[in-house]
Amino acid sequence: MLRGRETEAMARIRVMDLEALKPREPALVSMNGQDVMLYRRGAEVFAIGNTCAHEGGSLCDGWVESDIVTCPLHGWEFDLRSGACMTIPGESVTRYTATVEDGGIWLEETP
Ligand code: FES
Repeated sequence: MLRGRETEAMARIRVMDLEALKPREPALVSMNGQDVMLYRRGAEVFAIGNTCAHEGGSLCDGWVESDIVTCPLHGWEFDLRSGACMTIPGESVTRYTATVEDGGIWLEETP
């Protein structure tokens, strides 16, 4: 697991080099002690909380189709853009805003 190496302003943290995130291969990073799943598709980088809202499965170990990641344990589905659970309305994981700057991926928790 990679850890945040640099901080900027309040809660914006550089979590990894862009070139280290392989397209279509989820990666696990940590931000403020929380596990975060990163996923890169083309120029886009998605970031959501890695811990499934059901029973804590690791979403990084799941599979992604379109904008949806499926938890490997019991199949709950989460939207990579919003963190919303598509299986149980009202459930969600944390959503982060991911930006690419200076060759790095920066995360900011999104309310
Ligand atoms: S722990 Fe993710 S669906 Fe059950």
